[in-house]
Amino acid sequence: MHILAEVMTADREALRRSFARDFGREPEVIAEAPARVNLIGEHTDYNGGFVLPVAIDRTIAVAAALRDDDLFRVRALDFGECDEFRWDTVRRAQGWRNYPRGVAWALAEAGHHLRGADLAVTGDVPPGAGLSSSAALAVAAGGAVCALSGIDVPPRELALLCQRAENAFAGVQCGIMDQFASALGVAGHALLIDCRSLDVEPVAFFGPDVAIAVVDSRAPRRLADTAYNQRRQECSEAARLLGVASLRDAGLEQLEANRERLPEPLGRRARHVISENRRVLDAVAALRRGDTATFGGLMYRSHESLRDDFEVSTPELDLLVELARATDGVLGSRLTGAGFGGCTVSLVRQTQLGEFRARILGEYGRQTGLEGEMHVCSIAGGLKV
Ligand code: GLA
Repeated sequence: MHILAEVMTADREALRRSFARDFGREPEVIAEAPARVNLIGEHTDYNGGFVLPVAIDRTIAVAAALRDDDLFRVRALDFGECDEFRWDTVRRAQGWRNYPRGVAWALAEAGHHLRGADLAVTGDVPPGAGLSSSAALAVAAGGAVCALSGIDVPPRELALLCQRAENAFAGVQCGIMDQFASALGVAGHALLIDCRSLDVEPVAFFGPDVAIAVVDSRAPRRLADTAYNQRRQECSEAARLLGVASLRDAGLEQLEANRERLPEPLGRRARHVISENRRVLDAVAALRRGDTATFGGLMYRSHESLRDDFEVSTPELDLLVELARATDGVLGSRLTGAGFGGCTVSLVRQTQLGEFRARILGEYGRQTGLEGEMHVCSIAGGLKV
């Protein structure tokens, strides 16, 4: 097996001590949820399509204990910040606060009775890098709150509530990929998710000689939420013009036959989604055969499509992918997550990792003046309470 199943990354003892110091008693539960890296299938989830993420060994952990009123107090230990809210009057806020707030709101809105609690949050997911620290925070906070209030919500339902919180509370029209990966991840496996039927199929990852290297471009992400919502709108407009319920239902021939009906950039947006869905299924077939070359080639094509047709890449991400392509031992590379900045994911022969790191980070720094950061990730399991 590629990866360790039960190793979680947060320092639970330190978290317990911080909780005890801040709230003057011991936590009753600790919930821990992983971040994710998507191997292939980008901007397909909200089009009812296919994605192939892995949950990684970078997590958000939440320690929590009940209160005897209905107040929620949340301390973000890594930011030195705190928040307070009541679930029945909770409003949208800024940044990380929206995720504990949002999940409490979504649980209450779904008819669950919440009891007030104190929560302390820590983690080792780089924030704002596109690795879904927000989904991990929502899933972990939701897991903790449910356990404390004695609410029995299966992980898949919790993930759907977290997505609802992100859509209707935080105002980002995301799909289900990040929350499903965080709640339902399986150690050593990629998750093939059919985002229409919501079927999740774990597919064993390549052997231990293939490493997952995430390189953070460390370039600021600007207006990512606005651009994301705009892409989503373009996709539904393209589907409407093609006469299908969602782009999942369209094929490339159909797109070509109707090309004059779709003003640009809608034609290119649709071409990305339709071809990306195909690439995910081809990548899963390659993964099952142990065919790293085909899988890697599909990653490069996915990147090109995201760059040229979907237009969510940046010069920094393009440079990282080109540097990877020119490095020995790299099987494939692409931007991962929503884009507009953030990270690339590369599959690299374990034996070449040292060289990969030195070359990519060195050359990236020389050409951009930015200090990229590399994380070698193992595939972890999902939410644990
Ligand atoms: C973000 C969203 C996901 C997905 C990706 C793009 O991570 O949260 O739902 O749409 O972007 O593939």
